[in-house]
Amino acid sequence: MSEIVHTENLSYRYGDETIFSRLNLTVCSGEFVALTGMNGSGKSTLLRLLLGELAPRSGGIRLFGQDISDFKQWHRLGYLAQDGLKSGADFPATAEEVVTANLYAQIGPLRPVKKRHREAALGALARVGMERYAKRMLGSMSGGQRQRVMLARVLVGEPELLVLDEPTNGVDNDTADSLFALLAKMCSEGKIAAVMVTHDTARAASCAARTLLLEYGSLKEIGSPILRGEQSGNTSI
Ligand SMILES: Nc1ncnc2c1ncn2[C@@H]1O[C@H](COP(=O)(O)OP(=O)(O)OP(=O)(O)O)[C@@H](O)[C@H]1O
Ligand SMILES: [Mg+2]
Repeated sequence: MSEIVHTENLSYRYGDETIFSRLNLTVCSGEFVALTGMNGSGKSTLLRLLLGELAPRSGGIRLFGQDISDFKQWHRLGYLAQDGLKSGADFPATAEEVVTANLYAQIGPLRPVKKRHREAALGALARVGMERYAKRMLGSMSGGQRQRVMLARVLVGEPELLVLDEPTNGVDNDTADSLFALLAKMCSEGKIAAVMVTHDTARAASCAARTLLLEYGSLKEIGSPILRGEQSGNTSI
């Protein structure tokens, strides 16, 4: 399994507020890693560091074996933000258009959308059970339906690393089940790795390879009887 994400002694603070210190985390291809923790514990901050939106205060991050400061292949990452649900609410476009827009880099500026792009978009919508809604405006959908479309938008880019911030917030139980199952399947096929923030530790325990708890500035692996409560903060996980 090749290494997709590696953080080494990663620390971050906003002003004087230290969020975490010396985090060591490795995620390999095919791994589905759930990240949980209390509100404000720093989960979204950690994701934003992995996405290059924030710069480490100290320590380092490697993506696909490359130092993040030299990394340019951002198309290999797919990101669904914590407020991804809200961002689509007023968007004057259909589900298919929203998903196709993420193929813009492939389609090229001012170039027509080709059949294969449409098929890819419909395929991504089918993966999240939304193919029947392809022609529906995003603004006329329920919150959970919109969230599924936003996930399809990420999937259509065929990312190798999926970074998802609470994607099951506001979705019903069946949709949450199928979303977890979809991610677990995609990861088990070895095509992608996923790092997903979630408060849904029960589903994470049954679907994710590992569940990590971010608490008091440290990462701990939970859900394994051997490790439960026995890890100190700055170990490598
Ligand atoms: N831009 C910012 N400037 C200052 N402080 C911030 C900023 N963004 C987040 N914080 C603070 O950093 C801490 C971690 O925030 P973060 O959003 O990473 O938490 P989280 O674990 O994702 O929480 P939640 O479960 O509520 O989404 C919080 O105390 C938050 O108030
Ligand atoms: Mg958050």
